[in-house]
Amino acid sequence: MSNENEMELEQQKKYTENCQIYVKAFQVEHGRVPKACVVTFGCQMNARDSEKLSGVLEKAGYELTDVEEEADFVLYNTCTVRDNANQRVYGRLGYLNSLKKKKPHLKIALCGCMMQEQSVIEKIKKSYRFVDLVFGTHNIFQFAKLLSETLSSGNMVVDIWQETDKIVENLPVKRKYSYKSGVNIMFGCNNFCSYCIVPYVRGRERSREPKDILREIETLVEDGVVEVMLLGQNVNSYGKNLENPLSFAALLQEVEKIEGLRRIRFMTSHPKDLSDDLIEVMRHSTKICRHLHLPLQAGSDRILQAMNRRYTKAQYLALTDKLKTAIPDISITTDLIVGFPGETPEDVEETIDVVKKVQFDNAFTFIYSPRTGTPAAAMENQVPEETVHEGFNKLLAVVQETAKERASLLQGRVMEALVEEVNEQDPAFVTGRLGNNMLVHFKADKRLVGKLVMVALDTCHGFYYTGRMVDWLGQTKHTRLGKMVDNQWLS
Ligand code: SAH
Ligand code: SF4
Ligand code: F3S
Repeated sequence: MSNENEMELEQQKKYTENCQIYVKAFQVEHGRVPKACVVTFGCQMNARDSEKLSGVLEKAGYELTDVEEEADFVLYNTCTVRDNANQRVYGRLGYLNSLKKKKPHLKIALCGCMMQEQSVIEKIKKSYRFVDLVFGTHNIFQFAKLLSETLSSGNMVVDIWQETDKIVENLPVKRKYSYKSGVNIMFGCNNFCSYCIVPYVRGRERSREPKDILREIETLVEDGVVEVMLLGQNVNSYGKNLENPLSFAALLQEVEKIEGLRRIRFMTSHPKDLSDDLIEVMRHSTKICRHLHLPLQAGSDRILQAMNRRYTKAQYLALTDKLKTAIPDISITTDLIVGFPGETPEDVEETIDVVKKVQFDNAFTFIYSPRTGTPAAAMENQVPEETVHEGFNKLLAVVQETAKERASLLQGRVMEALVEEVNEQDPAFVTGRLGNNMLVHFKADKRLVGKLVMVALDTCHGFYYTGRMVDWLGQTKHTRLGKMVDNQWLS
């Protein structure tokens, strides 16, 4: 770890100690420990950031809760990828204000992608004066400092950075799951797809050093994690800006070597940068899940070009063919946008055509949302709402039909599942996640949460399965020796 990193951590530790003084005083005054609630909007990167923010709050002495109404400190980690994400935040802020009226000591904080927009900051300063702290995506490593300032100040604290090239390692983290974790491998994005606001709110692409990533995963594994999800806006361009460049495929090979780690996932892959090396590494790997999220966005070449995606429909189809030939059981999922400026019903047919040809296991379909500052928002040929909805519904129907068909192909198979949680309605059942990301519900002991088990997929219910735990040969469990779990016999 560099000296600069050590100094930053040391400073944040001092600020955390200031927060602890406030927390102690709260305890004396109220006769209980204050509670904090972090609410995450948006993608996996935000979810991981929230774990780091929660880590600081926990170190400061807060008890963490998922219930906003119970909290004395509420932090919204926001997303601005589509306008409805922003609207949700504004809507809920009204509710937080009503809570604050009943509980004046309640502190309200906002951070994340939405806060990197100038217009949002102006609106909050003007119409949401009850907010106590606002910061963005570039200075979340200084959260302890910002928290300490907020707790000791009666005024709104606003600190937004335009850019940073700093990556601070070893910040405190409070993980949501004991058995799986996201791991950032890079931050920011350089692709500037013409509809997308992410490069403006997350800054330029920068990769973490491989040694830092590997050390983090090793520590996670020591702590009981069996599955990691490597995170970046475009993992396929990982490592290009490192002093000693290393490809994503090469990084994966290193991660694969970590003993005790059982499953590797990654997100997201841009089709233009997906290398043959990566396909080879996936093909030979015993740990990388046979699942690839490969956003297509649109099937029409004209629209793809206007989106600045830098691949054609034919190239995308060739790539997915190559993937399926190399890894026959691979599951491919995607993101699709309907209503990009200038898109005609014929263009939507091109997207539908790709869905039918590729047979996606799942697709997230989005209605295009103009984002101020992006080139697409300034385009004149915006599509009328009615046309967009028609295209969207047509596409969604094909996506759902294809996904169901793909899911039904697994009927009767025996597959490995990571047991993720106990069923709330019936605690005799658990939910497991298959390598392809599908869920399966089956009867099992709750102590198996976090373990990998073999499950027979008996009945397909559209997008999920119900099944039964079996041994490696596909026989129903309860042998004389007991149950085999995680390669070990349990009696
Ligand atoms: N970095 C990832 C995606 C991040 S955003 C990638 O390139 O694949 C997640 C998804 O949101 C995108 O894939 C896209 O489908 C969708 N999206 C982004 N901007 C959007 C917009 N302005 N309107 C509608 N959907 C959008
Ligand atoms: Fe947005 Fe494109 Fe970057 Fe993904 S690759 S974050 S869609 S600009
Ligand atoms: Fe949203 Fe920011 Fe992720 S805009 S999708 S939370 S990178």
